[in-house]
Amino acid sequence: MKIAIYPGSFDPVTLGHLDVIRRASRLVDKLIIGVLKNTNKHALFSEEERVAMIRMLTQDLPNVEVDSFHGLTVDYARACGARFLVRGLRAVTDFEYELQMAQTNHKVAPDIDTIFFTTSVEYAYVSSSIVKEVASYGGDIRGFVAPEIVPLVYEKYHKKNGEQ
Ligand code: PNS
Repeated sequence: MKIAIYPGSFDPVTLGHLDVIRRASRLVDKLIIGVLKNTNKHALFSEEERVAMIRMLTQDLPNVEVDSFHGLTVDYARACGARFLVRGLRAVTDFEYELQMAQTNHKVAPDIDTIFFTTSVEYAYVSSSIVKEVASYGGDIRGFVAPEIVPLVYEKYHKKNGEQ
């Protein structure tokens, strides 16, 4: 059984993440979305909220599970019996960080490989940070996150959907 972990902060999950989740779920028997537990106190959503949002949006994907973890991603992968890590690559700016992380993970755990999905072009510029930046000023984030997530993000900034 091919099991992969898609680790990340997902604060919040974006349309780009969901695109990678859908495509990766077709490649493996089981895809586990691993939400990194917060060491960063500045996260917008709690780990429980982040897990709940992704669960809600992946209900239709029977081979996708969502959970949180702490510590090294490769340790979590081994505990889950996963041999693969999934990451999305948006642009060349992601490459250096992702390459370093994949190579470090492979050095620490040679039995685990990272698979990269190039993000679909329509989401190439979308990131959780951009979502938070735009929403914090009351801007329109409908092109960046799923419709169910939009009000949850504005709620964090005490703003109604896009109103200033
Ligand atoms: O969505 P992000 O914030 O880019 O995801 C980064 C994440 C969670 C994949 C990365 O920080 C991670 O794997 N953290 C756990 C600690 C670890 O295993 N680090 C990798 C060694 S370089």
